[in-house]
Amino acid sequence: MKVVICPTAEHTTALTARVIERAVRQKPDIVLGLATGRTMEAVYAHLVTAHRQAGLDFERCRTFNLDEYAGIAPSSARSYRTYMDEHLFSRVNIVHSATHVPDGSADDIAAQCAGYEDAIRASGGVGLQLLGLGENGHIGFNEPFSAFTSRTRLVTLDPATRQQNVGMFDDDLTQVPYHAITMGIATILDARRTVMVVNGQAKAEMLARVIEGPMTASISATALQMHADCLIIADEAAAGALSRRAYITHLMQHDPELRALLS
Ligand code: GLP
Repeated sequence: MKVVICPTAEHTTALTARVIERAVRQKPDIVLGLATGRTMEAVYAHLVTAHRQAGLDFERCRTFNLDEYAGIAPSSARSYRTYMDEHLFSRVNIVHSATHVPDGSADDIAAQCAGYEDAIRASGGVGLQLLGLGENGHIGFNEPFSAFTSRTRLVTLDPATRQQNVGMFDDDLTQVPYHAITMGIATILDARRTVMVVNGQAKAEMLARVIEGPMTASISATALQMHADCLIIADEAAAGALSRRAYITHLMQHDPELRALLS
């Protein structure tokens, strides 16, 4: 794991967008793994600006999103498909048929999940996987106790997750689905590179466990400790509970890859 701490959330999302931008410029037909949530809105806004003002070209990119609510049609205003269309896909020159989000309204969810895994494999695999962190430590919708060997599947959402995401449902908890489809932890770990962006004090204790704590299925994101190319970008508020802070600062100053990233 490599960790970068930025002064503010604005800096983390700008840096994350820069990492993605460099990856796309380096490999225009890259397969991107994408995430949703409030944190990512600013990341996508930066990518839209890079497209419009600096010619960032998405035409040959393909994308796979991490997750989707079950029982919600892709066309619903609350689906992650709609979120992605609104925040990114309709604002850049990506080919719509090259974007993939699980279909939570599929009749045969098991077939939908198996097909998603097949499609990722057929694309050559995810080159860069973007990740957020749930307050309960989830990545995608891999809730506590998810197996590190898990694949794309139907999951039951943690009550804490339903509460955390109630804002997308007009603050009406009764509207928040109980189930979702998510890439598994093993699916995520297959990505060649993983980049997690974490902001805010509410996630500080969890982020310290993810980076410094023992690996445990109770905190899905600790599986990232096994990933050979994992970058974590956190703001000062989210980094507030890290005990190895001085070491992280030292690495930011002297690690060649991090120096290049921050230059
Ligand atoms: C949802 C998504 C996660 C995301 C999380 C964080 O639960 N399924 O993939 O990481 O939200 O959201 P936020 O950025 O809003 O804190």
